[in-house]
Amino acid sequence: MEKIHAVYNSIFNYLDEIKISPLSRAYTFSDSVYEVIPFFNSNSIAFESHINRLERSCKALNLSLDMDKTSKEIIDLIAKSNLINGYVYYQVSRGIDSIRSHMFDDSLSTETFGYVVSHSFKSQKLKVMTCEDLRWQRCDIKSTSLLGNVMSMNNARMSGCHEVIMHKNNILTEGGASNVFFAIEETVFTPALSNNILPGITRELLIDEIKQFGIKVEEGDYSVDDLKNAQSVWLTSSTKGLAQVTNILDLDIQLNGDNRLFQKCEQIFFEKFFS
Ligand code: PDD
Repeated sequence: MEKIHAVYNSIFNYLDEIKISPLSRAYTFSDSVYEVIPFFNSNSIAFESHINRLERSCKALNLSLDMDKTSKEIIDLIAKSNLINGYVYYQVSRGIDSIRSHMFDDSLSTETFGYVVSHSFKSQKLKVMTCEDLRWQRCDIKSTSLLGNVMSMNNARMSGCHEVIMHKNNILTEGGASNVFFAIEETVFTPALSNNILPGITRELLIDEIKQFGIKVEEGDYSVDDLKNAQSVWLTSSTKGLAQVTNILDLDIQLNGDNRLFQKCEQIFFEKFFS
């Protein structure tokens, strides 16, 4: 098996040779944030946007991180791997406690960790189910605290689903690891940015791109019932690209009819970023 290239506290190594303290606050408290940065044909996609979001996540937690050094490290990691298509997972934690304590010591040094893997950005068709959004009130921070997402997605997996579409008080938020879009007639709809969803980079790239082709996009508050009127539904993320939803199991919805608007959006997106 190919060794996975990684970096821990700025030292490059293979993933299976890195040793991490169990008192890392990433481990005990999820006191950490992360990014997933895709690259295709050796070029990273929206690199600056990912770095800017990582910086915002760090600021929200008061974590100090040298952004120039981090950017260079991520670029070097991709180069070292010799991979053509893939993504980097990069995580920043508060550091390592001497003894577990909720209140951290200001003298801790930020701990960083990244690895790079190959990924084939194939288009996917997904079965999903809706569920109550169990998460906290700062889902705009790309935190590694993902237990709500993990519980909901694995619950859905037991019913044969690949993803979930979450809602808070019946208002759609996002997927378990993606943002949600749907099309009704000639308009594309997606939940507006708020503390309840991650400001997805793919979401932003897609909205900007399709608007340039004259497609109408509305961002707002939508309910589970709105999905019942949709001709197509899809999820976006850095690893999924645009993934078409074919079934919403619990709502008894099958989306195998008119997918024109989804197909147009997918074509625009793939021509811009994956060709
Ligand atoms: N997740 N919402 C959530 C909860 C996510 O975890 C993700 C991505 C997105 C989409 O964001 P972006 O387009 O910037 O990838 C939205 C990554 C891929 C992950 O955790 O693996």
